[in-house]
This record gives sequence, structure tokens and C-alpha cells, in this order.
Amino acid sequence: MAEKKWRGAARALSGASPDEASSLVPDHLPFARAASILAVIVLAGALFGYDQGVISGALIGIQKAFDVGHVALEIVTSWVTLGALFGSLAGGYGADLFGRKNTLFAASALFIIGALVQAFAPSVPILVLGRLVAGFGVGVAAVAAPLYAAELAPAAQRGRFVSSYQLAITIGIFVAYFVNQALAGPDGWRSMLGVAAVPGVLLALAILVAVESPRWYAKVGRRDDALRTLVALGAEKDAEARLAAIAKSLRAEVKAPSWGEVFAPRWRTPLMIGLGLAVLQQLTGINAIIYYSNSIFAAAGYATPVEQAQATTWGIGAVNVLSTFIAIAFIDGLGRRPLLIAGLIGMALSLAAVGFAFWQSGTQGNLGSSAGLITLVALVVFIISFAFSAGPVTWTVINEIYPNEIRGRAVAVATAVNWGAAFLVSAFFLSLVKAIGQAYTFWLFAAFCVIGLVWVIVAVPETRGRSLEEIEASWRGAPGAAGKSPKS
Ligand code: BGC
Repeated sequence: MAEKKWRGAARALSGASPDEASSLVPDHLPFARAASILAVIVLAGALFGYDQGVISGALIGIQKAFDVGHVALEIVTSWVTLGALFGSLAGGYGADLFGRKNTLFAASALFIIGALVQAFAPSVPILVLGRLVAGFGVGVAAVAAPLYAAELAPAAQRGRFVSSYQLAITIGIFVAYFVNQALAGPDGWRSMLGVAAVPGVLLALAILVAVESPRWYAKVGRRDDALRTLVALGAEKDAEARLAAIAKSLRAEVKAPSWGEVFAPRWRTPLMIGLGLAVLQQLTGINAIIYYSNSIFAAAGYATPVEQAQATTWGIGAVNVLSTFIAIAFIDGLGRRPLLIAGLIGMALSLAAVGFAFWQSGTQGNLGSSAGLITLVALVVFIISFAFSAGPVTWTVINEIYPNEIRGRAVAVATAVNWGAAFLVSAFFLSLVKAIGQAYTFWLFAAFCVIGLVWVIVAVPETRGRSLEEIEASWRGAPGAAGKSPKS
């Protein structure tokens, strides 16, 4: 009921007919077009994921090769996140100025260069430089790829398209864990880092055959290119009407938005939702687990490095990939909110259980076998819950809630904030464990999930099945979005 009212109000405000409003991109893309768009998204996600997963396996080799201490290793680990943070800010500019495709092409070039610099680095400073460059590329792609996916996907499949990005991230992490195991050995770290150039090359090739976003063409006044692309996407009969509807949503835009516009009070609600989701995703502790699962499994009783690595590859890496399919299956049917709510409940309970297992053991060292088992099961439940909710839903919603006018920059800000939060959580996890112990650390993450749950229930509207224009119209004052009226 609320949904019907919302749709009606949104249409009235946008002035678009129901057909125009719900499908600016044709509902059924030609197969080859859909495949090439998906290839771009999937390869960009794989770059991101590989980068997240690879360092855990490469660190020991790097330490031995250069005989360096902890601080240098922390820099080698974390500066890629720093590069990604700046890359995601630049990615927003690039995507608006040069187009989604050109920006993604530049990202893949940076990533290839960064990977090769790392693989052949003669010294730690050069290695760090390679990490920064690759991280910058990852950050650019992390903004431009989901943005591209959200703009090219038919409204009814947008969740699925953007979730494919998350699926690719998880596959990238899994492949990296796997490569880490396979290449373990004295100089293996060079190949581990160098292998990252492969998805970079594949991404560059995929971009060459993919179409540019017609929405971007329309935005920069390239009307003929926009029409041509809409026709290529299967809108032979009504390309003009679709372009008119896109133009309508671009009407307020005369120049690139200023940062003031991005932070303007009228967009505060979507801005806060995007930033809130970006931070919440990291406060669940996901990357503490992705980066440090080996040592968590060690504390949970897995004695040898091989056992720990296997538990990480399969218990975390593979489960993460498989569970993302739950989101792909349900995100457009059930919606974003139910997945997010169910996932946050699962994450809160499983993190509380991990905390309980450590608390019961009464030590910060090895757990007894039953507590060890609880930890393993709870971590698997945590990963499942994250993978069908906060992982994909965060990126989906961030890429669909902002108005056209500020989308490029706003997505960039939310992505940068996500990287910043990831940096903080992964940089301070070990110190936090030292200061307050494992139990309270996991309970803290559980508490963040509970706070996040309440916030999602109160503040995050459902965006399933709505065109980007309808969503935008809701911020312009339509009452009753998902039962809540976003203030504009
Ligand atoms: C997050 C990453 C995380 C990954 C795990 C992504 O959505 O942004 O920080 O490592 O999910 O699957």
C-alpha cells in the first residue's frame, strides 16, 4: 500500500509516465550487451577482491625478502587502502568528466602497472609505491564499476547487476586465498602480487567491447551517442522516448555539481543513508575477519598454518562466494531491506557467539575444542549473513539512492568513507584485541550490528523495482517512501 502510494507520488513528481519511469533502459538487453556489461562489473569486482585477499598470503614472504619489521609490513598492507581511498574520490570526478568507460579503462591500466611494480619491486619503498598505484586503480574501479552497473541495468534487475559486483569481490578474495596457498614458498609473494595484473588485462579488454552509459552521454550533451547506445541496448522503437525521460531526470543539471551541492541540505537524507551503510558495512568487522581469519582460527584451535589457511580458504572464502548467490536470487524479489535486516540479525548473533566462546575460555589464547567449534560455526554463520546482506545491499543502495545530479561524486564520497572505515577497522583490530581482549572486541562488533539494525529499520527505505528517477523524485519531497518521508 505504502509502496503504491510512493510510486504514484514519485511519478507525479517526475512527470514521467509509468513506462518511462520504470524502464529507462530496456527491460531485456540483447544477450551480448548484457554479457559485456556484466564482464566489466565482474572483472572490476574481482580486482577489488583479489587485492583484499592476497596480502594475507604475501606478507611472510615480503618480511623474509626484505628483512623488515612490523611497521613496514603494516604500511605495505594498509597503503593499498589509502590508495583506494584517494582513487575512489578521483573515480567520481573521472566518471563524470571522462565517462564511465574511459575511467574504468584508466583504472585497469593503473592496476596492471601497480601489480607489475609490486611483483618486481627491488625495495620496500618501490613495493609500497606499487601498492599505492594499484590501490588507486582499485578505488577508481570501485566507484566507476557499480555506477556503470546501476546505470546500465534495467530497473527490475538492478539489484542483481550490482550484486554481481559483490559476487565478483568474493570470488576475487577466494581466488587470492587459493593462489596464496598454491604459491606459498620463498619468492611466491612476487607471483601472488603479479597475478593481479591478469584480471586487470581482462578488464581492459572487456571495456573495449562494452557500451558507454547512455545516461552519461545524455548528461554531457552527446545526444546522438546516447540514442545510438539506447538502440544498441535494444530500444530500437522507443529510444527517443527513453532519452526524453533520461533528459527529464537530468534537467536540473547544467554543470558538474560542486561539493557544496553534494552536501546540500536537500540531499542530506540520501547522503546520510549512503554514508551510514558504507560505515556500517565495515563496523560489522568483516575485514577484521577477512584479513585476520588465519589468526582467529589459530586461536580457535587450528594448530598448523596449513590447517588455518584451509579453514580460511573454504570456511571464509568459499562460503562468502556461495552465500552471495542468496542475495542475487532475492535482492530484486524480496528487496534490500529484508535481506539487510535478516543479515544484521545473523551477524549480531554470530558475533555475540564468537565473543561468548572467547569469554568462556577465559583466556586470549587457545580455546578448548568445543569453544573452537563454536567459533568456526559462528564465523561461517557470520560470513553467510554478511554475504547475503551488508555486502551486496550496501553497494546496491549506494549506487541507486543518489539523484543523477550528484550521483558520481556522492558515490565516490560513500566509497571513500567505506575504504576509510575499512582502513581503521583493519588497522586497529589487533590493538583492540590487545587492549580489551577477543571477547569484548567481537561483542563490540555485535553491538554495532544491533545499532545498525535499528537504524536500517528506521531510516533506510526500500528501493527494489524503482527506477533511479523514481528514487530521485522521492527525495524531492514525495511523501511515504517505504512508509517514511525523506526530508529534502
Ligand atoms: C566490502 C569489502 C569486503 C568484502 C567481503 C565488500 O562488500 O566492501 O570491504 O572485504 O565485501 O566480501
